[in-house]
Amino acid sequence: MTPRHLMSPLDFSIEELDRLLDMAADIEKNPDKYAHLCEGKRIATMFYEPSTRTRLSFEAAMMNLGGKVLGFHSADSSSAAKGESVSDTMRVVSCYADIAAMRHPKEGAPLVASLRSLIPVINAGDGGHQHPTQTLTDLLTIKALKGHFDGLVIGLCGDLKFGRTVHSLIEALSRYNDIRFVLISPEELRVPSYVRESLRAKNIPFEEVVRLDEETMADLDILYMTRVQKERFFNEEDYVRMKDFYILDKAKMDVAPDKMMILHPLPRVNEISVEIDDDPRAQYFAQAQYGVYVRMALILTLLGIEVA
Ligand code: NCD
Repeated sequence: MTPRHLMSPLDFSIEELDRLLDMAADIEKNPDKYAHLCEGKRIATMFYEPSTRTRLSFEAAMMNLGGKVLGFHSADSSSAAKGESVSDTMRVVSCYADIAAMRHPKEGAPLVASLRSLIPVINAGDGGHQHPTQTLTDLLTIKALKGHFDGLVIGLCGDLKFGRTVHSLIEALSRYNDIRFVLISPEELRVPSYVRESLRAKNIPFEEVVRLDEETMADLDILYMTRVQKERFFNEEDYVRMKDFYILDKAKMDVAPDKMMILHPLPRVNEISVEIDDDPRAQYFAQAQYGVYVRMALILTLLGIEVA
């Protein structure tokens, strides 16, 4: 049987996504029911780029399901350092594990790897392109805390050019009804043109603004903050000029609407001041917790394991 992979959030239909999010919600409520479903199974985490949440939450997810984990957490500690291709590495890892999560600095690398893989491959972030499992995490957080997707006004702020979580989230939310996006970024860090064109082609309303002020925030149900992606810049000078462009602090939160939930894929650098961490609208740490439940549901789904 050919394995099923996850490269983009659109690889799941809306119905499949609903089932996955429902399962993740059930996992949160009834973890014991799921504690042994992956006994004898292994996940390989193949990380060619730094990660804290994504890698550890995949590993925690597999452990919570009773399975085991193996892998590497930098290109230097894998045979990539000797010049091995991702497809060869993947083909070999297929013999050691039942499912794999791969992060790579090159756009499309997990897709290339999946073509020769005998086991499901999950794209855990490919360069500045996509990050579908962060999107699943974001969707679960929104569903759990807002209760619905239709009709939401979503502001995305920061590095919309290189921020892969932004590209995947826009794509995924674009499938719901009456969505509106407010894209907040400096001119140099606007969303790539393919994202803009896709929104236009689907007739989804969006505006692009530079300032994160009271007027911009007035209608937002969600403000999704992002870090300036230092590692994707060609020169340090540009990064330094951009890095503190937005800082969400208490003064800004004082004029923001009560309904405006703050999300961030993390890690944060300076773009969210720690002084707002205890604001009830700040939900980025809860979001990181939802990432474990949704990855548990994803592992079960891709492995085709039925939940009794
Ligand atoms: C994000 C990523 O790797 O793209 N991190 C994550 O997986 N939670 C966001 C980022 O690094 O800024």
